[in-house]
Amino acid sequence: GCQAIVLAGGSGTRLWPYSRSLFPKQLLALTGEKTLLQETVDRALDVFDAADLWVVTNEEHVFEVRGQLRSMHPGLDAQVLAEPMRRNTLPAIMLGMERAVRRDPDAVVAVFPSDHTIHRPELWHGALERGVRLAREGWFVTFGVTPDKPETGYGYIHRGKALGDECYEVAAFVEKPDLATAQRYLDGGEHYWNSGMFVFSVKAFMEAVAAFQPELDAWWKARDERPLVDGYAGIPDISVDYGIMEKVGRQAVVRADFGWDDLGSWEALHRLGEKDADGNVVKGDVLQIDCSNSLLLSRGGKLAVVEVDGLIVVQTRDATLVCPADKVQRVKDVVSQLKAEG
Ligand code: GDD
Ligand code: MG
Repeated sequence: GCQAIVLAGGSGTRLWPYSRSLFPKQLLALTGEKTLLQETVDRALDVFDAADLWVVTNEEHVFEVRGQLRSMHPGLDAQVLAEPMRRNTLPAIMLGMERAVRRDPDAVVAVFPSDHTIHRPELWHGALERGVRLAREGWFVTFGVTPDKPETGYGYIHRGKALGDECYEVAAFVEKPDLATAQRYLDGGEHYWNSGMFVFSVKAFMEAVAAFQPELDAWWKARDERPLVDGYAGIPDISVDYGIMEKVGRQAVVRADFGWDDLGSWEALHRLGEKDADGNVVKGDVLQIDCSNSLLLSRGGKLAVVEVDGLIVVQTRDATLVCPADKVQRVKDVVSQLKAEG
């Protein structure tokens, strides 16, 4: 059968001050009532039984993750797996896979990140079905989003020969290219952004791990003697994109025009949010007078803003961000300076 692994252990920094190390992006309700993790699991439960769904997160987030999932399905409590420390997405996937293969050694596995939103889940279903079909034939399947800017924070998928039904062979997978390369890919019109979802068979995946990541292969193969978590400290920190996808052959991409959005910055929340007549997105205890094209959010106390245009103001109980809307990428500078100051 099919097993799903949800990755929920990342630490977002671009949505400071909402996202903090204890509350990364996936654990926040950014678009509606549900958190991004709940949205992700909700979508997956339409397709997978709770018993076939594994949620992998860091030990420090387990309590919050279990809490968020309990209300959705009582059986999910037992499906949350904790990493003792952060080792990035490739080991996290293998941790989920340890359980998945116990249920079905010949499983096809779908990996879902939990830090994005999908506006048209009805189209997502069809794409996933296509992906599962290809994975059964031995393909490593990615889901490609048509790019509209030279974003350097994503993986890029070079489309090759058509396989029919919105699917293509992959000529190359390049994780996080530099700006000049990303611009070239955008101009060429033959690249997709990697949405971060993957589908593959356990067999194909473990062959790739054996071929490209010998240390992780050894760790995996010793799992009968000791559970994977016990050896976690000693394994390399590597993402599935760098560790497997950039290297492995027989990749296919399914076009993913199902309204994918990474919500990578406050700009995205302004773009996607419900706007008033003057183009403001306003939430929380906010008094705004004659503002325009601004994102004004408060989760801590009254926020009053007068006659500004194109500004991001985000207030929490103990921190406030004020930043021009076209400079939101610099929020990561805030986070790194705060970290440096301890
Ligand atoms: N359990 C666990 N443990 N989850 C993790 C860990 C970890 O150590 N690190 C990251 N994650 C989760 C994140 O919460 C997120 O849901 C997902 O795995 C992807 O990790 P990110 O750290 O957000 O990756 P990225 O955004 O830099 O890049 C990936 O996503 C892009 C699209 O959003 C890549 O797959 C890119 O190729 C892709 O374009
Ligand atoms: Mg991400």
